[in-house]
Amino acid sequence: MEKIILTGDRPTGRLHVGHYVGSLKRRVELQESGEYDKIFIMIADAQALTDNADHPEKVRQNIMQVALDYLSVGLDPSKSTLFIQSMIPELTELTFYYSNLVTVSRLQRNPTVKSEIKMRNFEASIPVGFFTYPISQAADITAFKATTVPVGEDQMPMLEQCKEIVHKFNAVYGETLVDPKILLPDNEACLRLPGIDGKAKMSKSLGNCIYLSDTETDVRKKVMSMFTDPTHLRVEDPGHVEGNPVFTYLDAFSNQGHFEEFWPEYQNLDELKEHYMRGGLGDVKVKKFLNKVLQAELSPIRERRKEWEKDLPAVYEILKKGSEAAREVASETLREVKAAMKINYFDNDDMIREFMAAYK
Ligand code: TRP
Repeated sequence: MEKIILTGDRPTGRLHVGHYVGSLKRRVELQESGEYDKIFIMIADAQALTDNADHPEKVRQNIMQVALDYLSVGLDPSKSTLFIQSMIPELTELTFYYSNLVTVSRLQRNPTVKSEIKMRNFEASIPVGFFTYPISQAADITAFKATTVPVGEDQMPMLEQCKEIVHKFNAVYGETLVDPKILLPDNEACLRLPGIDGKAKMSKSLGNCIYLSDTETDVRKKVMSMFTDPTHLRVEDPGHVEGNPVFTYLDAFSNQGHFEEFWPEYQNLDELKEHYMRGGLGDVKVKKFLNKVLQAELSPIRERRKEWEKDLPAVYEILKKGSEAAREVASETLREVKAAMKINYFDNDDMIREFMAAYK
């Protein structure tokens, strides 16, 4: 069986370093591993509209931002198909048929939907499209026969719901859809990068993100203003590394090479942490190191972004070509789905024979 990757992001803002360690970096590694036959990376604009119906311009404007983020981290259109969800109408059609296999109560139990409804104060009036987006996400995954879906842990309930739809569909209509596997980030700290304010999640609305497209100065300012250990008042006080975002970021970003290059006084992160916990190591020093580490990681991304920004029509063309290629794949799956459901009435003569037989 072919190994196929499908994943994507909602274009509601520029992507940040949380997206980077949580998924983008991994995608590029998977792309370069040569282990996958096909890789589809989707800009999920239709899903973004499920809670932004009043602000289509916000979604539209961010499509280009996300595409630039993709290209600047090193996703390569000659190896990965980059496309726009709404340009593949077959996905909506699949969603419609899959929605008959899912109950309202099952959707109500989906933990991601539950917490997102709370976050958006949708309790009193949930848009139907938003409520059912897990079904559309199952359409995204199955349309491309994805075997592997690399996403953050917050997407786990989406994958479970998708697998249930696959099992149900195959049980009712015969083996048709491919059962996907989730691929989580392998570094614990990458599962969910906290915001620079120490809050559990980096989020645009909380204003606590470091963006991939931030300038060098912005990144430095943000790092130097980061929340640390509130009990670490004087340099000589013992500090805590647990729940201290500066150290969580170092867990996610730093490697041996960074120590050799920027801070040879320490062998590695464990030594640095020990010193911090013992006392006698100030936050500013650690933050300066983190800044160097982040800049080392982000500066090639920034450079590549500058290049692509000079040629936006080329980016547009990549999305257009990618969407055309993606549409062909999704159409083929839709054809198979309709054949399995036997609603492909005009595909062959079986149906007319059946009708005629009824009149014999
Ligand atoms: N729900 C994902 C997010 O919020 C985006 C997404 C849409 C997706 N369809 C998908 C991710 C299919 C993986 C597979 O970022």
